[in-house]
Amino acid sequence: MHLPIRPRRNRQSPAIRDLVRETELTPGHLIYPLFLQEGTENTPIASMPGCTRWSIPGLVQEAGEAHALGVPAVVLFPRIPDELKTRGAEACHADDGLVPRAIRALKAAHPTLTVITDVALDPYNSDGHDGLVTDDGRILNDETVAVLCQQALCHARAGADIVSPSDMMDGRVAALRAALDAAGFQAVSIMSYTAKYASAYYGPFRGALDSAPKAGDKKTYQMDPANSREALREAALDEAEGADILMVKPAGPYLDIIAKLRASTTLPIAAYQVSGEYLMIKAGAAGGWIDETKIMHESLIGIRRAGADMILTYFAKQWSKSWR
Ligand code: PBG
Repeated sequence: MHLPIRPRRNRQSPAIRDLVRETELTPGHLIYPLFLQEGTENTPIASMPGCTRWSIPGLVQEAGEAHALGVPAVVLFPRIPDELKTRGAEACHADDGLVPRAIRALKAAHPTLTVITDVALDPYNSDGHDGLVTDDGRILNDETVAVLCQQALCHARAGADIVSPSDMMDGRVAALRAALDAAGFQAVSIMSYTAKYASAYYGPFRGALDSAPKAGDKKTYQMDPANSREALREAALDEAEGADILMVKPAGPYLDIIAKLRASTTLPIAAYQVSGEYLMIKAGAAGGWIDETKIMHESLIGIRRAGADMILTYFAKQWSKSWR
């Protein structure tokens, strides 16, 4: 054949493939979500094989191992004992609570590790919702935002580097920025869950924390999976309100949303490979049907290629061990 243009020339050896590769993935792109609980036990999580609910000492150890592999940041998800859950979620801003104690322990042991906290009421709220719930089942917006501000200030006082509101209430980024600045925390960043969808992929996570809503669903605050223009609207608002990083969640089934946000903002984009995405890979591999290491890598490189600067993934430590 007379073919002057042969794309295969650029794929013909590992060395040339290295030269033409468009997307890089390193441990430095990853954020490691970690679960924690009171006490001294480290408990394997049945709904998320390979994940553990850590005691504070266990958390410090695990975060240190990931950090030594090059992972720059962790994000914390607490399991709060039932007796501390209330309708007002007051335990979310107690300075001696599980999260502030964990932040202080992490910062003392690993000063160069970036500590990110989740800002939302669901682990603390006896209703299991991200916001305050009225007797007739409505999720209150503005009243919730006031509590989220107290929660973020509590995390900032303990030394959090980044607070990450996952609640999807309107106006919370502006309110958090104002509250942090008024208290002197200008250096604390906000990573906003900008386009967080009402997703069944969160199922295993809610099992890990016992945080499923007691009644109803999250569709009045999390986004409809059918919508993408609405994600741009949320992104414009979060940017105007002062967010430092915008997040898309879940990641794999929403690559088009990551790409759209990438094209519409100069802010860094984060994407969250959530518990259901992780579990499907683990389950497929446990069945012997897929190659776990290769699928793990391909799922993450796809999220980066779509436009995510950073990825929250339960594979952060495992991938960082295997990538070279
Ligand atoms: C709740 C929260 C959820 C996740 C992170 N923060 C669950 C939810 O919104 O119900 C899900 C993470 C995952 O599935 O891995 N504020």
